[in-house]
Amino acid sequence: MLTTRPIGVFDSGFGGLTILKEIQAKLPQYDYIYLGDNARAPYGTRSFETVYQYTLQCVRWFFDQGCPLVILACNTASAKALRTIQQNDLPTMGAEKRVLGIVRPTSEVVGNYSANKKIGILATTGTVLSNSYVIEIHKFFPEVQVVQEACPIWVPLVEYGEYKTAGADFFIKKHIDELLKKQPRIDTVLLACTHYPLLEKKIRNFMPVDVTILSQGEIVANSLSDYLQRHTKMEQSISTNKMTTFYTTDDKDNFNKQAEIFYGQHIDAQQIHL
Ligand code: DGL
Repeated sequence: MLTTRPIGVFDSGFGGLTILKEIQAKLPQYDYIYLGDNARAPYGTRSFETVYQYTLQCVRWFFDQGCPLVILACNTASAKALRTIQQNDLPTMGAEKRVLGIVRPTSEVVGNYSANKKIGILATTGTVLSNSYVIEIHKFFPEVQVVQEACPIWVPLVEYGEYKTAGADFFIKKHIDELLKKQPRIDTVLLACTHYPLLEKKIRNFMPVDVTILSQGEIVANSLSDYLQRHTKMEQSISTNKMTTFYTTDDKDNFNKQAEIFYGQHIDAQQIHL
């Protein structure tokens, strides 16, 4: 049997597939395991403690599968669980194992896209309340004004396949209007939830035409590529058979049906019980 040491890519549900797709396009040589914790999604409205416990459980599962590196391809998990896992849990889980998130790599570059240094963040309630983007962006771009808007209904619209409907328009416009009320001169908006790229067309319809709308996939892929170039020991420990396997904590048939929309091709996932 082939022993693999894949990169683990995690999300509360389907959204991380939008990140995995871009990572694979940039780094096709590696093996990957994707896990969506669909049975317990959405994470965005859950407490810190709950998101931390769920995420930690999934990270342990990835390590049990032989992953040397896990990417939390979920802003909510990155914002609410990553730091505690890195500081408290990782030291007890194996010296050479790593968990990386997507808030920091995005914050490192997002300021470069804004000419007038006014950036809007659209995210889950959990990500907004954590204030992680405001804190991280200011580390790299102290002069940038960051305004945030939580869009709690957007993930369910996507997860339940209602995101193309006329009903979705109401909720999309509502949160964009709220964001623009906070700062009408925003010139860059970050879709800081991995589900939101599916809403991009509709978001664009309600956003002033000159606003740049950023998704994270490519940003995260570039950052991971850079990380692996700088960490050669880690890079060499990842297996390179170009194999990807998909897992969900919920019903696999439902996952396979929905996942294709996010990933762009058919997926044959297996269900796991944590
Ligand atoms: N996809 C997750 C994110 O990037 C949120 C989805 C959820 O609420 O579970 O924040």
